[in-house]
Amino acid sequence: MGLRKILDDKEPALHKVCKPVEKFDGKLHKLLEDMAETLMEANGVGLAAPQIGILRRVVIVDTGEEILELINPSILETDGEQEGAEGCLSVPGRYGLVKRPYYAKVRAQDRNGNWYVAEGEELIARCFCHELDHLDGILYTQVMERFLTEEEMASD
Ligand code: NI
Repeated sequence: MGLRKILDDKEPALHKVCKPVEKFDGKLHKLLEDMAETLMEANGVGLAAPQIGILRRVVIVDTGEEILELINPSILETDGEQEGAEGCLSVPGRYGLVKRPYYAKVRAQDRNGNWYVAEGEELIARCFCHELDHLDGILYTQVMERFLTEEEMASD
């Protein structure tokens, strides 16, 4: 299938709680590959399966070094705080001011079902929190302080 259509925040799929992945099969691998292709095409940092209409607990994050595949992820630990601009491929053209932990550690399964731990700071920690929220139907617009103005967006 390749590139998938990224749904916007009016779509019901973005507001649902996603189900755990139970089968680590070729279908999951294809989904992950399609998600990576779709993320790269959109120049994003992270993508969650519900954003392409798949209500399963699957997230990918581009760390700059690799594309992390996070299946059935949960946050193990957070530390500190950061406040900054955050956007979402499902909320095109807008950015919000969102407080997130500065550091986050996540536990997830890889594409073969093996558990592992990933951690990150700054943008990566922000992305972990943002993408995992998607799996529970939560968009940053529900946790932000406010939208950034056009002027604030232009000055960034
Ligand atoms: Ni998003």
